[in-house]
Amino acid sequence: MRGIILAGGSGSRLWPLTRAVCKQLLPIHDKPMVYYPLSTLMMAGIQDFLIITSPDALAQFRRLLGDGSGLGIRVGYAVQPSPGGIAQALVIGESFIGGEPVALALGDNVFHGTGLGEQLRAHTSPAGARIFAHQVADPRDYGVVEFDADGRVLSLEEKPARPRSRYAVPGLYFYDGQAPEIARGVRPGSRGEVEITEVNREYLRRGRLAVTVLERGVVWQDAGTVGGISATSEYVRVVEERQGLKIGCPEEVAWRLGHIDDGQLRALAEPLVPSGYGRYLLRLLQDDG
Ligand code: G1P
Repeated sequence: MRGIILAGGSGSRLWPLTRAVCKQLLPIHDKPMVYYPLSTLMMAGIQDFLIITSPDALAQFRRLLGDGSGLGIRVGYAVQPSPGGIAQALVIGESFIGGEPVALALGDNVFHGTGLGEQLRAHTSPAGARIFAHQVADPRDYGVVEFDADGRVLSLEEKPARPRSRYAVPGLYFYDGQAPEIARGVRPGSRGEVEITEVNREYLRRGRLAVTVLERGVVWQDAGTVGGISATSEYVRVVEERQGLKIGCPEEVAWRLGHIDDGQLRALAEPLVPSGYGRYLLRLLQDDG
């Protein structure tokens, strides 16, 4: 499976924070936001990535992640010239996808929880589309999925004023190779964007949409708002300080999965020692090496 991380958009909901800096490079506690979706997809077993971003931010992402070889993965880049919606990522990424299964992750969605990697790995060859659902107190800002008593999907709606359930659809979507063609058929909606919910509805119409409800022990945060950035940062800080284990640390994931060896982890760690991040990576080698 290939992985696309969408890190575009104008970030206007976060101005002035994102006037000069791309949203997905803003800090979530001790690391750039994009590290979290990258780690999530790596935990799903993905090693081939395409980062789609705005023309302005491209050079910054390259500086941060390079070609991915430091992490034992492959990272390529593509540009979304203007923010035209999430589904556009599937069209921009069409040749990268190359008819293979693809995971699309939004660059501002953060996941954490027991068994998450395993749960995701079980779905990396979807027959159609596999999306996820997670209960939230107020789903009105999200895609919302409604189930019948047997757990079958009845409806999918984007940001409904009156949600039919509490199940929001997180920004993590697994598709078969048909997704680009389906995305190309979707017209922009009322906010002028090609909605990913419309792609998912088309899969639903074709009888090829499956929804996995994430367990309540999985935490999903949307860091795409000012409140979301502070809440997610605080969550990460509290858990990291208590456990002494980092959340969303791609260097650690790469090392634990065997993409890089001890020497490569040490090389990544050394320049990061002054911030403490590198000391954490070196400590992994002592504790678990
Ligand atoms: C997007 C999707 C929405 C999804 C959400 C997850 O919303 O359109 O269906 O639930 O991401 O973060 P947006 O962030 O574009 O408002």
